[in-house]
Amino acid sequence: MSRLVLVTGGSSGLGKAIAVRFLAGGDSVVITGRTADTVEQSAQEIGARGVRCDASSPTDVEALCGGLGGRVDVLVNTAGGNTDLSASGRGESLSGIAAAWRANLEANLISAVLTTMAVLPLIPSGGSVVNVGSIGAEYAGSSYGAAKAAVAAWTAGLSAQVGPRGITANTISPGYIEDTAFFHGQLSDERRDALIAATHDQRAGKPDDIAAATLFLASDGARHITGQNLHINGGAFTTR
Ligand SMILES: NC(=O)c1ccc[n+]([C@@H]2O[C@H](COP(=O)([O-])OP(=O)(O)OC[C@H]3O[C@@H](n4cnc5c(N)ncnc54)[C@H](OP(=O)(O)O)[C@@H]3O)[C@@H](O)[C@H]2O)c1
Repeated sequence: MSRLVLVTGGSSGLGKAIAVRFLAGGDSVVITGRTADTVEQSAQEIGARGVRCDASSPTDVEALCGGLGGRVDVLVNTAGGNTDLSASGRGESLSGIAAAWRANLEANLISAVLTTMAVLPLIPSGGSVVNVGSIGAEYAGSSYGAAKAAVAAWTAGLSAQVGPRGITANTISPGYIEDTAFFHGQLSDERRDALIAATHDQRAGKPDDIAAATLFLASDGARHITGQNLHINGGAFTTR
């Protein structure tokens, strides 16, 4: 049976690759992003339905949910990114620090919480929620890492909440993944080399590495996997 899969932030990078994987398996996919043109273009390119929606806006999320047809089998919260890389000039004043921290919490934590809370009533037994965290959560000196650590912590609690309804909830935490717009052109060759050197398999991750694992977590074979944080990073961070 074809499922309805909602991928927030599905117009680029990991989200787009995740959408492509589900579509290839015969599912119907709705992708979102904040930029109407990009969402529409990506949706047409891959054969999904595109909806402009800022996942950190309660109004946008309510409007999105109203148009989903009453059922979402799989929710993938990919929307996010490190707002320290996309904004500049906040300075080191306390108000600048507050703005920078709030931006990363809004972009990565609040966005996933709002979308999940709105979509949860539409998810049937057998459904899944997959939240995208980050290896950065393990080195959480920054607001981005702290926000992603919060995503993983909240997801574990979400799992306990939805488990009795037959729904799974997991975090996927990627390491460095190339072919995305994540770094906004700010990744130096030296930093990229260092990120790859830190892996055991000596390569960057690909969006499809994340997409394949997401598809698995939403599959019949993964029904007893819930409340977990799956690291996908070539060994750059190990859980032991
Ligand atoms: N690439 C990596 O190395 C890496 C590593 C660890 C974790 N991650 C995480 O992976 C996720 C996907 O990032 P990516 O690497 O694929 O970067 P990307 O290519 O920049 O994709 C981010 C996507 O999210 C959308 N987006 C951002 N904020 C949004 C919001 N508030 N509401 C709706 N859509 C939003 C963007 O579209 P608009 O800008 O048009 O809204 C875009 O479609 C992020 O959560 C990121 O933190 C990435």
